[in-house]
Amino acid sequence: MKYNCYLFDFDGTVADTGEGIRRSVAYALEKLGRPALGEDVLNRFIGPPLHDSFVTYAHMTDEEAEDAIRVYRERYVDVGLYESRVYPGMARLLRALHGRGAYVAIASAKPQFMLERVTEHFGLRDCFDAIVGTGLGRHSADKRDLLLAALPEGADRSRACMVGDRCFDIEAARALGMAAVGADFGYSLPGELAGAGADVVFSGVGEMSEWLLDGAMPRGLFVSLEGSDGCGKSTQIAMLRDWLEARGYEVTLSREPGGCPISERIREIILSLDSRGMSAECEALLYAASRVEHVREVIEPALKMGKIVICDRFLDSSIAYQAYGRELGEAFIRQINAPAVKAVTPDVTLLLEVDRAAARARMAQGAPLDRLELEKEDFFARVQRGYDRLAQAEPGRVVRIDASRSIGEVFAQVRSAVDAALGRLSESL
Ligand code: TYD
Repeated sequence: MKYNCYLFDFDGTVADTGEGIRRSVAYALEKLGRPALGEDVLNRFIGPPLHDSFVTYAHMTDEEAEDAIRVYRERYVDVGLYESRVYPGMARLLRALHGRGAYVAIASAKPQFMLERVTEHFGLRDCFDAIVGTGLGRHSADKRDLLLAALPEGADRSRACMVGDRCFDIEAARALGMAAVGADFGYSLPGELAGAGADVVFSGVGEMSEWLLDGAMPRGLFVSLEGSDGCGKSTQIAMLRDWLEARGYEVTLSREPGGCPISERIREIILSLDSRGMSAECEALLYAASRVEHVREVIEPALKMGKIVICDRFLDSSIAYQAYGRELGEAFIRQINAPAVKAVTPDVTLLLEVDRAAARARMAQGAPLDRLELEKEDFFARVQRGYDRLAQAEPGRVVRIDASRSIGEVFAQVRSAVDAALGRLSESL
């Protein structure tokens, strides 16, 4: 790695906190009967100490600015703080730096307790060795003091770098003899970061990560979801994607059979009612063929780019439905799928379990049934046995989820399984 110590600014660098800050500043101005400010000016409030911004941009006295901060916080602490999202790819960068043994900390002019709350909220708290913000008192902390407080004791500053989106971050780093990396995807004005003396400036998290990690990008995480038809996978997949994206992960959603043009065409053949009478072997080979293409075209490239792939069904479906449901045996199914899975296997598989009666009732409310969904009950009983066997054989990978609970309760189980898998991934960096 380029450095052994990395300090990150928060607003506009780790997370896009603009919306919450803008709305809360606008709220304070309105409540105090001051003229509204345009979005460009509101953006200037992101990063530097609020007190200074109220004085400079809303032309307040010191006392008025303190009053404005009080009103701002009425809204910001409970609402505005969470109107933010971690920049896509940032979670992976932080985890990779921390996981590879670097010291990683936040140095921000935001109050300390807010930084702690928001990093906890986005699941990033454990990426940081230290979080340094300001107290709530009326002082506008000098960025240099924040950097000094965030550095570990006895740090070699020539091997430390500050990553930030405003000139204050860059200037403070330069003054302390640290490297300064500009995050141009935040709230800097054109030319601001280079002008302040940044060693290097990046317009995206991806290229910044490549540079900071010397091109050794960590592989992504492969999550598959399984379960009998009607178990509620689609709802959970959408919730999982939103949750991960808000936490700064890049997500690729896909499904099997399908996921890329050739495999989607194979899907049509497999599921069409016109294919009634298709032999079990032909069906199994078509699933395997669509999987080979899907892995090559979608899953492998996304994992190489460090993304989280969430796939609606994967090899386990073929084991449950074709090896057990169609009674073709595991050995045959594993053999025909070898070309697909030699490249990738899921890091974690969420098995959503509901009883058959509940699944049937859910399916009855949905779209018309496809060829497989029209199978007889004894077929589904065998599929269920297949899933049971998989869960018993690979308890480290296959996580059983009780999907008969409410959507929120099911999602809590999904979240904790994915969180655990992300934790394992960080340890292996
Ligand atoms: P789909 O409409 O995607 O069903 P669901 O919403 O339940 O996931 O249809 C996929 C069907 O294909 C489903 O009945 C399971 C079956 N299937 C197999 O039999 N083998 C496989 O390898 C895969 C991926 C799916």
